[in-house]
Amino acid sequence: MSGARAGEACAEGGTGMTAAQREPGKGEFYHDLAARLGALLAGETDLIANAANTAALIHDGLADLNWAGFYFRQGAELVLGPFQGKPACVRIPIGKGVCGTAAARRETVRVADVHDFPGHIACDPESRSELVVPLIEGAAVLGVLDLDSPLAARFDEADQEGCEKLVALFLDRHRRYPAEAGPPEDIDPQSGCRLPLPKRKDLDDEGQRIYDRLADPKGGTLRGLRGPGGIQLHSPQLSRHARPLNHYLRHEAGLGTRVRELAILVTARECDSRFEWAAHEPEALNAGIAREIIDIVKRRGDTQGLDEADAIVIALGREILGARRLAPQTFARAMRQFGRRRLVDLVALMGNYAATAALLTAFDMQLDPGQPPPNLYEGPPRRRMLHARAGPRRRRHDTSRPAPALRDISSRTSPARPKRE
Ligand code: SME
Repeated sequence: MSGARAGEACAEGGTGMTAAQREPGKGEFYHDLAARLGALLAGETDLIANAANTAALIHDGLADLNWAGFYFRQGAELVLGPFQGKPACVRIPIGKGVCGTAAARRETVRVADVHDFPGHIACDPESRSELVVPLIEGAAVLGVLDLDSPLAARFDEADQEGCEKLVALFLDRHRRYPAEAGPPEDIDPQSGCRLPLPKRKDLDDEGQRIYDRLADPKGGTLRGLRGPGGIQLHSPQLSRHARPLNHYLRHEAGLGTRVRELAILVTARECDSRFEWAAHEPEALNAGIAREIIDIVKRRGDTQGLDEADAIVIALGREILGARRLAPQTFARAMRQFGRRRLVDLVALMGNYAATAALLTAFDMQLDPGQPPPNLYEGPPRRRMLHARAGPRRRRHDTSRPAPALRDISSRTSPARPKRE
């Protein structure tokens, strides 16, 4: 534990610096705590369990707290969630008390002395200072993280910054876009993304032809204007080049519908693109891909027992887009399965849909209203390095000692031995 002990004054001033930069000890403390929280939440998706562990980690890690926990919003109230400390009031109207104020203002509230805060709700008479960070997702407040201390002015700017980061980490794990939340404020309701729908009259002839195909329900696109096609059309030249390429990869490369849709799904999964996933899951089912295989892709499950063609497509997507390295064995299997030209096309198809996923992310393309969000958060975390390069990898100018082999961080994958460096 480092400098985040009780009530330490935070050096103010220092223009342009964050509190953590001005007070590195505390910044480091929260950095470590965030790493521990990340490890604690990894692999678990249950909201209550993760909130309970988050509260416990904070209560245990920060000195001089008498209460640390969550309230979750239900309608116009905050309702008590997992916490550490004395029993607390269960329901707090939005706008009331420190918690309700933070939720109503949608910003962190730091109170040096709760006796000076009009409307403070005293759950524990020992509490003197309080820090409340709202849990904000899109346009919605999902709840608050509340920390109480028996010391006056226990929380400073660095604590606020640190706790806001912890909340961001927690939220990241539980992003779920509840139906009632509505889309974020910068979303155009017509297009469902951060850009408006393209206007036909602004386009040249070729652009208008593309527009018409997209607007036509029988035009052969899955999503029409309300999707990547509509986004691309804001750059008509891009559209003009990108659409024929996508058409070639989808229909002319001879990959087959099953391989194509499996490749798109694994790409959507590795890019965390819920929109792409939601658009293509029905296509995958139509292509005859069994629900169990779709779930293996979704949960990053084991591919043992699958047909080689399916297994290799999944492995390719996971390694190229997830691990960002393709093992020689996987490459060899893929070559055997698809041959040179089809493999090039297959990888290009994944890249094409990864590019689409990038557009969907950048312009925050929303699912259709009421569409249940696919859960792309289950399963083991993306593994950066599935395969160690076992051979000594010498630095170009240093032959005196072998560079250490990269560590294999996967527990299940044995290190691959490349035939050559
Ligand atoms: N003091 C809070 C109520 C929650 S307890 O501190 C756990 C408030 O004023 O909102």
